[in-house]
Amino acid sequence: MSRKYVIAGNWKMNKTPAEAAALIGEIKPLVADASCDVVVGVPFVDLPAALEAVKGSGIGVAAQNCHWEKSGAFTGEVSADMLKSMGVGYVILGHSERRTYFGDTDVTVQKRVRAALDAGLTVILCVGEYLEQREQGVTGEVVAMQTKIALGGVSAQEMARVIIAYEPVWAIGTGRTATAAQANEVCRLIRGTLAGLYDAKTAEDTVIQYGGSMNAGNAAELLAQPDVDGGLIGGASLKAPDFATIVKAAK
Ligand code: PGA
Repeated sequence: MSRKYVIAGNWKMNKTPAEAAALIGEIKPLVADASCDVVVGVPFVDLPAALEAVKGSGIGVAAQNCHWEKSGAFTGEVSADMLKSMGVGYVILGHSERRTYFGDTDVTVQKRVRAALDAGLTVILCVGEYLEQREQGVTGEVVAMQTKIALGGVSAQEMARVIIAYEPVWAIGTGRTATAAQANEVCRLIRGTLAGLYDAKTAEDTVIQYGGSMNAGNAAELLAQPDVDGGLIGGASLKAPDFATIVKAAK
Protein backbone atom coordinates (compact mmCIF):
# COMPACT_ATOMS: atom_id res chain seq x y z
CA MET A 1 0.00 0.00 0.00
CA SER A 2 1.53 3.30 -1.07
CA ARG A 3 -1.09 5.84 -0.05
CA LYS A 4 -0.07 9.16 1.39
CA TYR A 5 -2.53 11.49 3.09
CA VAL A 6 -3.63 14.48 1.02
CA ILE A 7 -5.14 17.48 2.79
CA ALA A 8 -6.66 19.96 0.35
CA GLY A 9 -8.32 23.27 1.06
CA ASN A 10 -11.25 24.24 -1.12
CA TRP A 11 -11.44 27.99 -0.80
CA LYS A 12 -14.51 28.20 -3.07
CA MET A 13 -15.32 31.81 -4.05
CA ASN A 14 -13.29 33.40 -1.29
CA LYS A 15 -10.15 35.58 -1.19
CA THR A 16 -8.79 38.13 -3.63
CA PRO A 17 -5.32 37.45 -5.08
CA ALA A 18 -3.70 39.60 -2.39
CA GLU A 19 -5.69 37.87 0.33
CA ALA A 20 -4.82 34.46 -1.12
CA ALA A 21 -1.10 35.28 -1.04
CA ALA A 22 -1.42 36.48 2.54
CA LEU A 23 -3.29 33.34 3.68
CA ILE A 24 -0.73 31.07 2.00
CA GLY A 25 1.97 33.12 3.73
CA GLU A 26 0.30 32.29 7.04
CA ILE A 27 -0.19 28.62 6.21
CA LYS A 28 3.35 27.97 4.92
CA PRO A 29 5.31 27.99 8.19
CA LEU A 30 2.54 26.10 9.98
CA VAL A 31 2.68 23.15 7.57
CA ALA A 32 6.41 23.19 6.84
CA ASP A 33 6.91 19.84 8.57
CA ALA A 34 3.78 18.19 7.18
CA SER A 35 4.01 14.48 6.61
CA CYS A 36 1.12 14.59 4.11
CA ASP A 37 0.61 16.34 0.78
CA VAL A 38 -0.95 19.79 1.20
CA VAL A 39 -2.97 21.52 -1.53
CA VAL A 40 -4.90 24.78 -1.72
CA GLY A 41 -7.77 25.07 -4.19
CA VAL A 42 -8.23 28.71 -5.09
CA PRO A 43 -10.39 30.77 -7.49
CA PHE A 44 -9.02 31.05 -11.04
CA VAL A 45 -7.95 34.69 -10.64
CA ASP A 46 -5.94 33.79 -7.53
CA LEU A 47 -3.88 31.12 -9.28
CA PRO A 48 -0.88 33.31 -10.26
CA ALA A 49 -0.63 34.80 -6.78
CA ALA A 50 -1.04 31.38 -5.17
CA LEU A 51 1.61 29.77 -7.39
CA GLU A 52 4.01 32.56 -6.48
CA ALA A 53 3.16 32.36 -2.78
CA VAL A 54 3.70 28.59 -2.46
CA LYS A 55 7.21 28.78 -3.91
CA GLY A 56 9.76 27.19 -1.60
CA SER A 57 7.12 25.09 0.13
CA GLY A 58 5.72 21.73 -0.87
CA ILE A 59 2.18 23.11 -1.09
CA GLY A 60 0.34 22.28 -4.30
CA VAL A 61 -2.15 24.57 -6.01
CA ALA A 62 -5.52 23.46 -7.37
CA ALA A 63 -8.08 25.11 -9.59
CA GLN A 64 -11.73 24.44 -8.76
CA ASN A 65 -12.95 23.45 -12.22
CA CYS A 66 -11.88 23.24 -15.86
CA HIS A 67 -13.60 22.85 -19.21
CA TRP A 68 -13.25 19.70 -21.29
CA GLU A 69 -12.38 21.32 -24.62
CA LYS A 70 -8.86 22.52 -25.33
CA SER A 71 -10.00 25.92 -26.63
CA GLY A 72 -12.87 27.49 -28.50
CA ALA A 73 -16.09 29.44 -28.17
CA PHE A 74 -16.82 28.77 -24.48
CA THR A 75 -17.19 32.20 -22.95
CA GLY A 76 -16.14 32.33 -19.34
CA GLU A 77 -14.47 28.92 -19.31
CA VAL A 78 -10.88 27.86 -18.61
CA SER A 79 -9.23 24.80 -20.18
CA ALA A 80 -7.11 22.17 -18.47
CA ASP A 81 -4.20 23.06 -20.76
CA MET A 82 -4.38 26.69 -19.65
CA LEU A 83 -4.10 25.57 -16.02
CA LYS A 84 -1.23 23.23 -16.77
CA SER A 85 0.62 25.91 -18.72
CA MET A 86 0.66 28.18 -15.67
CA GLY A 87 2.10 25.49 -13.42
CA VAL A 88 -1.11 24.44 -11.68
CA GLY A 89 -0.86 20.84 -10.50
CA TYR A 90 -4.38 19.91 -9.42
CA VAL A 91 -8.00 20.54 -10.33
CA ILE A 92 -11.09 19.88 -8.21
CA LEU A 93 -13.84 18.41 -10.42
CA GLY A 94 -17.44 17.46 -9.88
CA HIS A 95 -17.86 19.39 -6.65
CA SER A 96 -21.49 19.24 -5.52
CA GLU A 97 -21.77 23.02 -5.82
CA ARG A 98 -20.82 22.72 -9.50
CA ARG A 99 -23.32 19.89 -9.92
CA THR A 100 -26.11 21.69 -8.02
CA TYR A 101 -25.74 25.29 -9.18
CA PHE A 102 -23.89 25.09 -12.48
CA GLY A 103 -25.38 22.09 -14.23
CA ASP A 104 -22.49 19.68 -13.97
CA THR A 105 -23.61 16.08 -14.57
CA ASP A 106 -21.81 12.77 -14.26
CA VAL A 107 -21.21 12.94 -18.01
CA THR A 108 -19.72 16.44 -18.03
CA VAL A 109 -17.64 15.55 -14.99
CA GLN A 110 -16.29 12.56 -16.93
CA LYS A 111 -15.33 14.84 -19.83
CA ARG A 112 -13.59 17.26 -17.49
CA VAL A 113 -11.69 14.42 -15.78
CA ARG A 114 -10.54 13.14 -19.17
CA ALA A 115 -9.36 16.59 -20.25
CA ALA A 116 -7.57 17.25 -16.98
CA LEU A 117 -5.70 13.94 -17.10
CA ASP A 118 -4.79 14.50 -20.75
CA ALA A 119 -3.34 17.88 -19.77
CA GLY A 120 -1.20 16.26 -17.07
CA LEU A 121 -3.12 17.53 -14.05
CA THR A 122 -3.98 15.58 -10.92
CA VAL A 123 -7.73 15.42 -10.39
CA ILE A 124 -9.60 15.69 -7.11
CA LEU A 125 -12.89 14.07 -8.12
CA CYS A 126 -15.81 14.82 -5.81
CA VAL A 127 -18.67 12.40 -5.32
CA GLY A 128 -21.40 12.27 -2.68
CA GLU A 129 -25.07 11.78 -2.02
CA TYR A 130 -27.86 14.21 -1.18
CA LEU A 131 -29.62 13.83 2.15
CA GLU A 132 -32.74 12.35 0.53
CA GLN A 133 -30.60 9.73 -1.18
CA ARG A 134 -29.00 8.74 2.13
CA GLU A 135 -32.44 8.56 3.74
CA GLN A 136 -33.68 6.38 0.88
CA GLY A 137 -30.75 4.03 1.43
CA VAL A 138 -29.15 4.56 -1.98
CA THR A 139 -25.88 6.23 -0.90
CA GLY A 140 -23.82 3.28 -2.10
CA GLU A 141 -25.50 3.15 -5.49
CA VAL A 142 -25.25 6.92 -6.02
CA VAL A 143 -21.59 7.15 -5.11
CA ALA A 144 -20.67 4.04 -7.10
CA MET A 145 -22.48 5.41 -10.16
CA GLN A 146 -20.83 8.83 -9.90
CA THR A 147 -17.43 7.18 -9.53
CA LYS A 148 -17.90 4.75 -12.40
CA ILE A 149 -19.19 7.34 -14.86
CA ALA A 150 -16.57 9.96 -13.97
CA LEU A 151 -13.77 7.43 -14.43
CA GLY A 152 -15.01 6.13 -17.77
CA GLY A 153 -11.97 5.77 -20.02
CA VAL A 154 -9.45 6.41 -17.22
CA SER A 155 -6.73 3.75 -17.13
CA ALA A 156 -5.31 2.07 -14.03
CA GLN A 157 -2.02 3.93 -14.56
CA GLU A 158 -3.84 7.24 -14.75
CA MET A 159 -5.48 6.53 -11.40
CA ALA A 160 -2.16 7.55 -9.82
CA ARG A 161 -3.28 11.09 -10.73
CA VAL A 162 -6.83 10.75 -9.41
CA ILE A 163 -7.81 11.53 -5.83
CA ILE A 164 -11.42 10.86 -4.91
CA ALA A 165 -13.16 13.10 -2.39
CA TYR A 166 -16.23 11.60 -0.77
CA GLU A 167 -18.36 14.58 0.17
CA PRO A 168 -21.88 13.87 1.41
CA VAL A 169 -23.80 16.93 0.22
CA TRP A 170 -25.68 17.21 3.51
CA ALA A 171 -22.39 17.67 5.34
CA ILE A 172 -20.97 20.45 3.17
CA GLY A 173 -20.93 23.83 4.85
CA THR A 174 -23.63 22.70 7.27
CA GLY A 175 -21.56 21.94 10.33
CA ARG A 176 -23.11 18.48 10.18
CA THR A 177 -20.20 16.08 9.68
CA ALA A 178 -20.57 12.44 8.74
CA THR A 179 -19.57 10.25 11.64
CA ALA A 180 -16.16 8.68 11.30
CA ALA A 181 -17.88 5.33 10.73
CA GLN A 182 -20.15 6.75 8.01
CA ALA A 183 -17.21 8.42 6.28
CA ASN A 184 -15.14 5.26 6.40
CA GLU A 185 -18.01 3.08 5.20
CA VAL A 186 -18.51 5.09 2.01
CA CYS A 187 -14.78 5.57 1.38
CA ARG A 188 -14.39 1.80 1.65
CA LEU A 189 -17.28 1.31 -0.71
CA ILE A 190 -15.61 3.62 -3.24
CA ARG A 191 -12.43 1.56 -2.87
CA GLY A 192 -14.50 -1.52 -3.62
CA THR A 193 -15.88 0.17 -6.72
CA LEU A 194 -12.31 0.90 -7.84
CA ALA A 195 -11.32 -2.71 -7.25
CA GLY A 196 -14.14 -3.73 -9.58
CA LEU A 197 -13.25 -1.15 -12.21
CA TYR A 198 -9.50 -1.81 -12.04
CA ASP A 199 -7.82 -4.20 -9.63
CA ALA A 200 -7.09 -4.60 -5.93
CA LYS A 201 -3.76 -2.78 -6.09
CA THR A 202 -5.15 0.27 -7.87
CA ALA A 203 -7.97 0.39 -5.31
CA GLU A 204 -5.51 0.14 -2.43
CA ASP A 205 -3.24 2.81 -3.88
CA THR A 206 -5.92 5.43 -4.61
CA VAL A 207 -6.21 8.31 -2.16
CA ILE A 208 -9.80 8.74 -0.97
CA GLN A 209 -10.56 11.88 1.02
CA TYR A 210 -13.52 12.78 3.15
CA GLY A 211 -15.01 16.28 2.89
CA GLY A 212 -17.93 18.00 4.57
CA SER A 213 -17.53 20.15 7.67
CA MET A 214 -14.16 18.63 8.49
CA ASN A 215 -12.52 20.91 11.03
CA ALA A 216 -9.73 21.18 13.56
CA GLY A 217 -11.86 19.40 16.17
CA ASN A 218 -13.06 16.38 14.21
CA ALA A 219 -10.24 15.82 11.70
CA ALA A 220 -8.16 13.45 13.82
CA GLU A 221 -11.01 10.98 14.30
CA LEU A 222 -12.04 11.08 10.63
CA LEU A 223 -8.46 10.73 9.40
CA ALA A 224 -7.81 7.81 11.75
CA GLN A 225 -10.26 5.70 9.75
CA PRO A 226 -8.49 3.09 7.62
CA ASP A 227 -10.11 4.11 4.33
CA VAL A 228 -10.03 7.89 4.86
CA ASP A 229 -6.79 9.13 3.31
CA GLY A 230 -7.21 12.85 3.69
CA GLY A 231 -9.66 15.67 3.56
CA LEU A 232 -11.16 18.24 1.25
CA ILE A 233 -11.82 21.15 3.52
CA GLY A 234 -13.93 24.22 2.82
CA GLY A 235 -14.68 26.59 5.69
CA ALA A 236 -11.88 25.46 7.99
CA SER A 237 -9.28 25.82 5.22
CA LEU A 238 -9.73 29.60 5.30
CA LYS A 239 -8.26 29.81 8.81
CA ALA A 240 -4.55 29.05 8.78
CA PRO A 241 -4.32 27.62 12.32
CA ASP A 242 -7.34 25.35 11.79
CA PHE A 243 -6.07 24.15 8.42
CA ALA A 244 -2.66 23.49 9.96
CA THR A 245 -4.24 21.47 12.77
CA ILE A 246 -5.97 19.30 10.18
CA VAL A 247 -2.69 18.88 8.27
CA LYS A 248 -0.97 17.79 11.49
CA ALA A 249 -3.73 15.27 12.15
CA ALA A 250 -2.93 13.57 8.84
CA LYS A 251 -0.16 11.21 9.81
P1 PGA B 1 -16.91 22.49 4.13
O1 PGA B 1 -16.77 22.30 2.54
O2 PGA B 1 -15.66 21.96 4.75
O3 PGA B 1 -17.09 23.95 4.34
O4 PGA B 1 -18.11 21.68 4.55
C1 PGA B 1 -16.18 21.16 2.01
C2 PGA B 1 -16.22 21.22 0.50
O5 PGA B 1 -17.21 21.71 -0.05
O6 PGA B 1 -15.27 20.79 -0.18
